Amino acid sequence: MPDVFGFGIIGCGLVSDFHGRGIGDLENARVICATDMNAERAQAFVGKYGGEALATSEEVCSHADVHIVSVLTPNAHHAEHVIRAAEHGKHVIVEKPPEMTLEKTDRMTAACRAAGVRLAVSLQVRFRTAIRAMKAAVEAGRFGRLLAADAYMKWHRPTAYYLSDAWRSRRDEGAGVTIQHAFHYLDLLLHLAGPVSHVQAWMTNLIHPEVDLEDTCTAKLDFACGAQGFLRATTAMYPGTDIRIELNGENGTAVMVGERMVQWQFRDERPEDEGIREIGSEAAQTAATGAAAFGYAEHKLLIADMLGAIREGRDPYVTVESGRQTLATALATYESADAGVPVAVP
Ligand SMILES: NC(=O)c1ccc[n+]([C@@H]2O[C@H](COP(=O)([O-])OP(=O)(O)OC[C@H]3O[C@@H](n4cnc5c(N)ncnc54)[C@H](O)[C@@H]3O)[C@@H](O)[C@H]2O)c1
Repeated sequence: MPDVFGFGIIGCGLVSDFHGRGIGDLENARVICATDMNAERAQAFVGKYGGEALATSEEVCSHADVHIVSVLTPNAHHAEHVIRAAEHGKHVIVEKPPEMTLEKTDRMTAACRAAGVRLAVSLQVRFRTAIRAMKAAVEAGRFGRLLAADAYMKWHRPTAYYLSDAWRSRRDEGAGVTIQHAFHYLDLLLHLAGPVSHVQAWMTNLIHPEVDLEDTCTAKLDFACGAQGFLRATTAMYPGTDIRIELNGENGTAVMVGERMVQWQFRDERPEDEGIREIGSEAAQTAATGAAAFGYAEHKLLIADMLGAIREGRDPYVTVESGRQTLATALATYESADAGVPVAVP
């Protein structure tokens, strides 16, 4: 087991800074190398975070000093790199969503399993302190029967965002508010309330006529546990409001806005509850107003957890199997909106 884990980065665009900073903050991690189809981006990345710029994904995956490959390419181009990394015996952190189809997700999962390497999906918001408190309360049964799990994501992205890279305006490449932006918050609802059995969704494009995508999605979620949920997700609302997650049970309610716990109330008040009500800062940005307007602390926690998973021989906190369930739900959301009927989630 190495004292310091070497990282190889594939894809040096917007999200790579969050990984670069997270790795840079950890004493037992360092960047070994990076690649991008756009060589200037790889060069700029290693200029900031160290290591060497390489020409291909194959060179990154086969590098002797790389233990973990971080796949940070657009949504429909994850599997090829994940599988290549696994074939070289490297552990993998892949950005969300794991891929654009369940079939590709299953292929990359199988490749990692066959190679005996760990695969984590970068659903870093699960590490948010308020979410961890909600999750612990669910597991401790404090909500009693869960009745509702809702996510309100009223964000803003200008048309320039959609036109900044070709893939950002192509649904087959993984663009669209549901799969690209709301994926984290749909994931939180599943993380907290369990799998969704049926979804009914409505999608529209409110303010971005230049792109052929939904910028707004409303979905009704029927959770297998009996709870109902609403997902209201948009990039149309200027200037953008912090994400709001609400969880209600027969015995309690928790509401997070941005990173802050704004309501935390249970029939069985406990000593720790006072501290939980203080979680989060109003100043923390959570991407409501811009694609890079959020902190890297949660990416750092996800990366540190991966190192722990490798050391301890356990699964990472965010497994690909759990990310797959969110993907299945997101795909069913599109299917429902296209067909105009409720759809069962496989
Ligand atoms: N976890 C989060 O909060 C978060 C935030 C933003 C983006 N993301 C995810 O990160 C991924 C990348 O998003 P982004 O916003 O950084 O996109 P981006 O377009 O800014 O960057 C992607 C980079 O990958 C490069 N690339 C594409 N195909 C490649 C290949 N085959 N080999 C090498 N390089 C290749 C592109 O040249 C580009 O520089 C997406 O899956 C996205 O959903 C996650």
